[in-house]
Amino acid sequence: MNYLDRNEFNFEPSQKVLDAVKNFDAKDLCFYTRIYDQGKKSVISVRVSEIYGVPEEQVLLAYGGEEILKNAIHYFLSINSQKDATEPNTKILIPEFSWWYYNRVASECGGTFEMYPLYEQEDTFAYNVDEVIEYTNRIHPRMLLLASPNNPTGNSLTSEEIGRIMENIPSDTMVLVDEAYASFITSDVDYIAPLVNKYSNLIISRTLSKFYGLPGLRTGFGFIGKGHDQFLSYSNKYLGFNRFAEAVALAALDSDEHYRRVAEDMEWDRQLFKKELGNVPGFKVYKSVANFILIKYPTAIKEKLQKALAAQDYKIKFMTDKGLEDCLRITLGRREQIQTVVDTIKQCLA
Ligand SMILES: Cc1ncc(COP(=O)(O)O)c(C=O)c1O
Repeated sequence: MNYLDRNEFNFEPSQKVLDAVKNFDAKDLCFYTRIYDQGKKSVISVRVSEIYGVPEEQVLLAYGGEEILKNAIHYFLSINSQKDATEPNTKILIPEFSWWYYNRVASECGGTFEMYPLYEQEDTFAYNVDEVIEYTNRIHPRMLLLASPNNPTGNSLTSEEIGRIMENIPSDTMVLVDEAYASFITSDVDYIAPLVNKYSNLIISRTLSKFYGLPGLRTGFGFIGKGHDQFLSYSNKYLGFNRFAEAVALAALDSDEHYRRVAEDMEWDRQLFKKELGNVPGFKVYKSVANFILIKYPTAIKEKLQKALAAQDYKIKFMTDKGLEDCLRITLGRREQIQTVVDTIKQCLA
């Protein structure tokens, strides 16, 4: 099966990752990690702390970005909603078009969510930063979610824009910036430490699932501002992290060159979509900065296309989100896979 529907990785893992899997000593699983004797969470958080220049205590580690999100929303909306208020603040602000799971997690713990709009421009969607600030001040939510790049629209925020939002919103609104796809835009991570050092109400979440191509490893990491001991004790694992995942994660974090090459190869996919579908009536190929691309298409071909792709064992995402029902989200995969998808779409138009 060719899975191009969930922003996974259709390429080869790095040699270091393959070696780490092959050379892992199963006897290591007979013992808990001892790194917590040194007051650290994991060898991963230690390495992430070195790479990102953020103190290890402020590094979050979890079962995917998914769990960072879940821990933060559950903790701040239900366990630690504002203590001095008579009514707990369970409001959370979410981007209009975004990963469906945000709403699900907010609903799980009784969160009341509101959407702030994203605006469609010529070939992309965009945040209106001033409006996000205005909205946050007006609604005063316990949490504000930002995704950069956003899934499925692919638009992102600059570090200056994140800083501007942080500077101009209430300091008791926890902001979670979901950067699951951020490594595809740039290898620059120097902006993270100054932001989390300055703003105690900021969480930045990342993952090994996308750029590092290891969604099956279930490893996410992130960063939180200072002074959140209770949240850390809630979200940290008392007996340590999965030791096999630790070994593989360290190898992946040490393989940037390999994964950067893969990410660069995805430009071929983007260009093919633009060249072959960009000027076809009924289509709009949005700008992509992550490992997926959003394409508006004539929905009259939906059934035919679904069948034609299924017949070749291909899966892409036919969007069902309100306002995006006429869009496809396609994971950027190997060249021959993308060629097949493009050819199939064109055949369905004939
Ligand atoms: C926007 C966004 N954030 C986070 C994730 C979580 O990924 P994981 O839990 O595998 O780290 C995904 C997965 O598709 C995603 O699209």
